[in-house]
Amino acid sequence: MSTVVLIGAQWGDEGKGKITDFLARQAEVVVRSQGGNNAGHTVVVDDKEYKLHLIPSGILYPEKLCVIGNGVVIDPKVLLEEIDYLAENGIQTDNLRISSSAHVIMPYHKKLDELQEERRGNKKIGTTKRGIGPCYMDKIARTGIRIIDLINANDFKETLGSALQDKNYLFDKVYNTTGFELQEIYDEYMQYAERIRPYVTDTSVLINKAIDERRDVLFEGAQGTLLDIDHGTYPFVTSSYPTSGGACVGSGVGPTKIDSVLGVVKAYTTRVGEGPFPTELRNEMGDQIRKAGHEFGTTTGRPRRCGWMDAVILRYAARINGLTGIAVTKLDVLDGLETLKICTAYKYQGEILNEFPSSLKVLEQCQPVYEELPGWQQETSEIEDYNDLPQNAKRYLHRLEELSGVKIDMVSVGPGRKQTIVINNTF
Ligand code: GDP
Ligand code: IMO
Ligand code: MG
Repeated sequence: MSTVVLIGAQWGDEGKGKITDFLARQAEVVVRSQGGNNAGHTVVVDDKEYKLHLIPSGILYPEKLCVIGNGVVIDPKVLLEEIDYLAENGIQTDNLRISSSAHVIMPYHKKLDELQEERRGNKKIGTTKRGIGPCYMDKIARTGIRIIDLINANDFKETLGSALQDKNYLFDKVYNTTGFELQEIYDEYMQYAERIRPYVTDTSVLINKAIDERRDVLFEGAQGTLLDIDHGTYPFVTSSYPTSGGACVGSGVGPTKIDSVLGVVKAYTTRVGEGPFPTELRNEMGDQIRKAGHEFGTTTGRPRRCGWMDAVILRYAARINGLTGIAVTKLDVLDGLETLKICTAYKYQGEILNEFPSSLKVLEQCQPVYEELPGWQQETSEIEDYNDLPQNAKRYLHRLEELSGVKIDMVSVGPGRKQTIVINNTF
């Protein structure tokens, strides 16, 4: 038995959904522990595409227990829409469990997300406008509403009442706009509460019981290391902990219970939203990669910014997350390129930086130092065995191992389940 924490090693959209789905075959429990419906995880099964935002990707296997942990922020409307969407596609959600301690995204969080972005003007973060930041703000300010408050009608009215008093004052005095009606939100959310109640439990008890019973547990990360509130490119980050430590806090599982940490790494780099991106390609090559990799956001449809592999980031992610293995995804997207570049260090004011800088001002001025490798003129999407990969593809992968100091456990060469090459069994 083992417990695996799967995280994104870059700026999100590394293919965590696909790898989770692949590994979930072996796991008995799949847990989401942070983020909310800012995440967009696409999983392809038998040519059918499923887009998940809140529910763990393990849900596509009927027998797996899927958990939304305490660290997740839940928009009940979106959650119910996702449950309905899955039902319409023949996927049952009887095995879904939701933490009673998870925080609830309220209509005023979404409105605040929009208003805050507007006020930031050209300093905007480029959020998904799903109310994620404002909901976590309330959580940290100790003024949030939790699932347990929502499903308890009396508590809910009281908590909502005092929250609205503050929020409506803010809308009126700071943003000069109208606020929300207590009764309206109450009625709407009480309907959600009725449907959500059967799923709610103390999920920490469930997960720890599964671990004690020696079942395989997989923690599915959302977002990525560089979007982490502490370790990411602050302030161009999300408001949660997408790094491996977040899996423990966000699920109520102690670090001694985690066996391995798998970093999902796209064979190149992408980013959605604002903020520095040293290896970004604002040219034809970037457009070519975007086109070949279908790099458009699952959640917002925005074109993703594309660039070369950045091994400074890879090393950083290995350190911050304590990576024990790597899953490289979308290798096939690089098929046919003549040469590939890997950034091995940054140049800042004439100096070589080997470590990812914490200052955004420094990062903004960093120039990537590139190493060039020959590409491969062969399609990889049908390859099932590592040894059958083109020599130059293996060379590229090997170089990533050298530069990160972490072994590659698996390589993904397409969105489908079968398009996964296993080198070392993660569980
Ligand atoms: P996540 O947020 O980390 O789960 O990643 P997304 O689902 O947002 O983005 C990854 C996209 O790439 C999805 O559309 C996947 O279906 C697709 N994908 C995943 N792995 C591969 C791969 O190895 N090759 C190709 N071509 N597409 C992949
Ligand atoms: P998955 O799980 C990529 C980005 C947003 C924005 C910043 C803050 O699919 O990898 P937020 O709405 O969280 O306050 O936005 O974070 N962002 C993501 N980028 N993948 C994601 O999730 C993301 N979730 C948030 O674009 O730059
Ligand atoms: Mg995504």
